[in-house]
Amino acid sequence: MELKHWKLLVDGDHLAWLAFDRAGTATNTFSREALTELGQIAEHLASMPPKGLAIYSAKENGFIAGADIEEFVALKDAEEAIAFTRLGNEVFDRIAALPFPTVALIHGFCMGGGTELALACRYRVADDGSNTRIGLPEVMLGIVPGWGGAKRMPKLIGAAAALDLMLTGRSVDGRRAKKLGLVDAVTPRRHFENAARKFLLDRPAPSRPAFGVAITNWPGVRSIVARMSEKKVAERARRDQYPAPYAIIELWRDFGGDPRNVPREHPASTASLFFHPTTANLVRLFMLQERLKSFGKKSPSPLGEGRGEGDSIRHLHVIGAGAMGGDIAAWCALRGITVTLQDLAAERIAPAIKRAADLFDKRLKQPHLVQGAMDRLIPDVAGAGVARADLVIEAIVENPEVKRKLFAQIEPHMKPTAILASNTSSIPLQELAPVIARPERLVGLHFFNPVAQMMLVEIVQGPQTAPDVMAAGQAFARQIDKLPLPCKSAPGFLVNRVLSPYLYEAMLMVDEGIPPETIDAAAKDFGMPMGPIELSDMVGLDIGWAVGQELAKPGFPIPKKLQSLVEAKKFGKKTGEGFYKWVKGKPQKSTSGPGTLDLKPLADRMVLPALNEAVACLRERIVADADLCDAGMVFGTGFAPHRGGPIQTIRARGKQEWLRIMAELKARHGLRFEADSGWDSI
Ligand code: NAI
Repeated sequence: MELKHWKLLVDGDHLAWLAFDRAGTATNTFSREALTELGQIAEHLASMPPKGLAIYSAKENGFIAGADIEEFVALKDAEEAIAFTRLGNEVFDRIAALPFPTVALIHGFCMGGGTELALACRYRVADDGSNTRIGLPEVMLGIVPGWGGAKRMPKLIGAAAALDLMLTGRSVDGRRAKKLGLVDAVTPRRHFENAARKFLLDRPAPSRPAFGVAITNWPGVRSIVARMSEKKVAERARRDQYPAPYAIIELWRDFGGDPRNVPREHPASTASLFFHPTTANLVRLFMLQERLKSFGKKSPSPLGEGRGEGDSIRHLHVIGAGAMGGDIAAWCALRGITVTLQDLAAERIAPAIKRAADLFDKRLKQPHLVQGAMDRLIPDVAGAGVARADLVIEAIVENPEVKRKLFAQIEPHMKPTAILASNTSSIPLQELAPVIARPERLVGLHFFNPVAQMMLVEIVQGPQTAPDVMAAGQAFARQIDKLPLPCKSAPGFLVNRVLSPYLYEAMLMVDEGIPPETIDAAAKDFGMPMGPIELSDMVGLDIGWAVGQELAKPGFPIPKKLQSLVEAKKFGKKTGEGFYKWVKGKPQKSTSGPGTLDLKPLADRMVLPALNEAVACLRERIVADADLCDAGMVFGTGFAPHRGGPIQTIRARGKQEWLRIMAELKARHGLRFEADSGWDSI
C-alpha cells in the first residue's frame, strides 16, 4: 500500500503497528487526505486481518491535535462541512468495527479528532507524563465533537463526566483519564510496546463504566442529566451567543451523539453550527492565540528587528508583593522558575505566600510537587535576589516618582545581562527610563488581574528598549505559558487604554443614578464575562483612579462617585467596599434586577468609547494590526469572545451604524463621543 501520512508495519506476531506521521507538518492533524488514507488502511487491515492493531504517533510533540484547522476554515459551504463530518464518522466507525482488538497509544496532546480516534479503538493507553492532555475542546471553537466523540465518550465514562469534558473543553492528564475510565492503562511511553502487546494478545474485556455511571445514558435518566447540564451551561453562556454547548447536549440526548442523525435545519446540525458567526469568531481567536504564541519563539518582534536571546529566565526577582506582584511571583514559581519576592516588610509578603500555597494546592495537587513550588518561592525583604536575577519585575504602587526612585536604587546591583521590567498599568516607559543607566534593558511586562486566569501579558516596547530585550520578554511570557502581545509604549498601552473609557462611562452612568447592578447586567448581556462596575471593584478603585488620571483627556468628566470612594479609601474588593460591598470575595448585589428595561442602549453607550479608543490605538499603531487589537482585548479582558473583539464588533454591526449611534450620544453627552479620525480606515 502506498502511504503518505501513515506508516504500517506488521510484525512476526501478526500485530499491525500504525504510526501517524502527517507529511509536511510538525504536528499530527487530520486533513481530509490523512483521514481518507486511514480509512483505506482500515479497509485493507479488515481484509488481512492481523491479530491486533496499535495506533500511535511518530511525532515527538503528541498524538493528534484534532482536525486540521486550516482545512476547517477553508470549508466553503454546508455541503463541504457535512461531507467532512461524514468522512470522519465513516473512518472512525470502520476502525471501531475492525474484527480484531485495537489500541491507541497516547502521548502528549490528544485533542478533538485525536481523542475520537482513540475512542473508536477497543483499548487506550496513555503516557504518565505531565504533557499528556486528552480532551474534546470543540466547544471552544463553537462546534461539537462530531466524529463520534459525543457518541462514544458518554458510553465509556458515563454522561455526567463526558458532558463535563465536552461542555467545558477541559483536557485531562493520563492519571485523571484512567480514573475517569477514559484510558485503560497509564504507563511511561517507553513501555508502550509491551502494554500494547499485552492488550492485543491477552484481549481483556474492554473497560465499562460502573452501573451507577452507565445508567446516565438510559433514556429516563438521560433527560434528567441533560436538563441539569443545560442549567449549568445557561449560567455561563446564552444560547444565541454560544449555541455549541446546547447543541452538544441535544446531540447526545436526542440524536445518539451522531451528527448524521440531526436534521439540517436543527440548531445542533453541522450546517447550523459551522456557519454561525460565533464559530467564525471563536476559530479566528484560536488562530490569533497561535499567532501570539509564535511571538514567543525568539523570532523578530513585529514592532522591532531583533531576535530573542534564547536563554530562559531561571531566577526572577519580583518587587511588590501586593495583588499583582504576589500573584506574578506565585505563577512563575508554579511554572518552575526560582522566584525571590520583595516588599517593604515580611508581613506584606506573608499574604502572597498564603495565596501561592492555595494556587499550588489547586493546580499541582501532589504534595511533593506543591512542596517543590513552595521551595522555589522565596520571601526576600532585603532584596538579595536583585543581584542574582535574570529578570526583575517591579509591581509596586502606580506612582512614577516612587517607581523611578526604586529603579535608581536597584539597577546598579543587577547583573549586566539582566532585564528590568515594570508591571505598570499605564505609565509609559519613557517616564521611568531617565533614571537608569541602561534604558535599553527596560521593558514593560504588563500582566492582568487575576494573574492565574488571564492569559495575556502586554510586552511593552519603550523608545529605547533593545529588540533583543523585547524578544526576551516575549519568550518569557511563553516560558510561563502566557500569551505575549507586543505593544508600543504610550499611556495605558493597548488594553487599559481601550478598557478605561468603557469603565469610566459605566461609572458616569452610576453618577446619573443608574444602579450598578443594571449597568453590569447590560454589559453581561452584551457578552462581557463580568460587568464594568464589578470589574473596577475587583481590580481596585485606586488602580482604576490612577490609570484614569494617566489617561485623562482634557474636558472629559471625572466620575464623582469613583472620586468619593477613592477619597474614602474604599477601593473595592481588597478593602471590602467600593461600588459594592464585598463579603467573602463576592460583591453583594441587589437582586431586584433591571425589570423590563432595554439594556442594549446602555451596552452601546458603554462599549462605544472602547470601540472608539480601539480605533485610535490602531491609528497610532499601538499594536501592529486589527487582529492583534482584538486578541489583546479578548485575552486581556475577556471582551465578549463570541463577538471576536472590538474591531470585529465594529465590522459585524457595520461602521456606519456605530457612527450614527455615536453622533447621537455626542449630541447628548458631549465630546467624549467624538469619533476618532481612524474610523475612516476601519
Ligand atoms: P498593591 O497595592 O496591591 O501592591 C503594591 C505592593 O508594593 C504593596 O505590597 C506595597 O507594600 C509594595 N511596595 C510599595 N513600594 C515599595 C517599595 N519601594 N519596595 C518594595 N515594595 C513596595 O498594588 P497592585 O494592585 O499589586 O499593583 C502593583 C502594580 O501593578 C501597579 O503598578 C499597578 O498599576 C500594576 N497593575 C495592577 C493591576 C491590578 O489589577 N491591580 C493589573 C496590572 C498591573
